[in-house]
Amino acid sequence: MRIIRTVHEVRVAVAEARAAGRIVGLVPTMGAFHAGHLSLMQVARTQTDLVVVSLFVNPTQFAAGEDLSAYPRDEQRDADMARGEGVDILFAPEPAEVYPDGFSTTIHVSSITDVLCGATRGPQHFDGVATVVAKMLGMVAPDVAFFGQKDAQQVLVVRRLVRDLDIPVRIEACPIVREPDGLAMSSRNVYLDPAARVQATALQRALAAADAAAKAGERDAAVLVAAAAAVLADAGIEPEYLELRATDDLRLLDRVEEEGLLAVAARVGGARLIDNCVLRPN
Ligand code: PAF
Repeated sequence: MRIIRTVHEVRVAVAEARAAGRIVGLVPTMGAFHAGHLSLMQVARTQTDLVVVSLFVNPTQFAAGEDLSAYPRDEQRDADMARGEGVDILFAPEPAEVYPDGFSTTIHVSSITDVLCGATRGPQHFDGVATVVAKMLGMVAPDVAFFGQKDAQQVLVVRRLVRDLDIPVRIEACPIVREPDGLAMSSRNVYLDPAARVQATALQRALAAADAAAKAGERDAAVLVAAAAAVLADAGIEPEYLELRATDDLRLLDRVEEEGLLAVAARVGGARLIDNCVLRPN
């Protein structure tokens, strides 16, 4: 596995692969790899010939007061894990390579970024995500880019950005990977002390309660959300949001006919955690 730090070098490597008829895959990450990241690399490995993983803790998607400085960083460990998954290139640029002096462009995806994490983390979050993802897609020019469905809103933002800006890439959303007790894998789980780690399992149990109600035929959004809210309340968790929204444009739903995205964010111990599931009533 090569570790590459410059846009020029990654472009040369990708151009050589493409000239040889190879399909290029990109897994954009901020490092601190866990099984969720590894699953993206595994899917990329099966679907593409040259697997590039970008590792860049993007400062512009963190608001003031968020965990940018504390965000877990261990490039050596990440590189070993990526190598173990057969990744071809770890693209780990310095901040100045991504945001050179005078950088002055921001991409704003409107509407779907006004709600959920866009409302609670502030507009800079998805502006930062959209801008850095557009840059990574421009730098690497992959045929396919792989994202985790845990960040369901991020997947929608990236799909919209790619569609609106005619970026020639296929976006592949991969399933959420969970711990054996149901907690969604997240780089931020390392912030959980043992008590908070147990408490955090309530997020998935809350989603499962709503899912069970939907599978039993419940379609009323208020009833479905209440089923999930009761589990959170029982665990002493006050959600930042717990909302049932349309899977395509994130409009609030009163009823779930075909399907609905139930999304939750909550602070548990020292961590801000998110999770979601798609409800499909019987
Ligand atoms: O999901 C993440 O890790 C980040 O938001 C991403 C897509 C790598 C952009 O910095």
